[in-house]
Amino acid sequence: MTVNLALDDALIASTADKAAKAKTLLAEIARDFSPVAFANSLGAEDMVLTDLIVGEKLAIEIFSLDTGRLPAETYDLMARVQEHYGLKLKVFTPRHDLLEAWVREHGINAFYDSVELRKGCCHVRKVEPLQRALAGRKAWITGMRAQQSATRGGLPVRVFDEGNGLEKFNPLADWSEKEVWAYIRQHGVPYNALHDRFYPSIGCAPCTRAVTPGEDVRSGRWWWENPETKECGLHVKRA
Ligand code: ADX
Repeated sequence: MTVNLALDDALIASTADKAAKAKTLLAEIARDFSPVAFANSLGAEDMVLTDLIVGEKLAIEIFSLDTGRLPAETYDLMARVQEHYGLKLKVFTPRHDLLEAWVREHGINAFYDSVELRKGCCHVRKVEPLQRALAGRKAWITGMRAQQSATRGGLPVRVFDEGNGLEKFNPLADWSEKEVWAYIRQHGVPYNALHDRFYPSIGCAPCTRAVTPGEDVRSGRWWWENPETKECGLHVKRA
């Protein structure tokens, strides 16, 4: 795993405390915001949420966005999650007509050419499918944490998502990376094999690389870009 983890008493206690709070919040969300959906990228944080939601048998739909360019290890994890939790994963794929038109117009790897093209690719492969996944929902849940990057400082646990027109919850907003890994280790939660190869944050294969210890956890995502631009469009705030 990417965090050098010493499971000491303080870490065990803070993780248990935050997990208990997250469970309570998730139960309240399931009760008050039905129908609600959890966007599961299969990253470490999302595996914690999956474990909590399934463990508590909460009425929260779980879906993943398959961009078509995910690393093989992420597909392997999807299969393992299905088996481990007895879950039928709901997977949304890009609209073939939009994707074919985008690739024909710009090229198969055009996302490397400019931030605009990269965001266009993210839009077709992730943002449009997300809109379909959220249609008719009262709220959605993500695994984002405030400490993940420059773009996520001060991340609230609850916020109205104006772009998508529904409530958005980030139950792990105040979790540290160590707490995420303490939970995973203590509960035997399955996780992406790439995390053990210095990939703390995993997106599409061509847009994700390993980081060196001490680097920002999202520095391996769209690594050729300025840190300020590094969001895929799922989480942008309206100006
Ligand atoms: S992002 O810029 O790719 O969205 P990150 O990988 O840190 O950033 O994901 C943040 C949150 O967005 C995840 O915890 C998850 O809730 C949602 N998310 C990102 N990618 C996906 C995906 N492929 N499928 C479902 N949800 C996703």
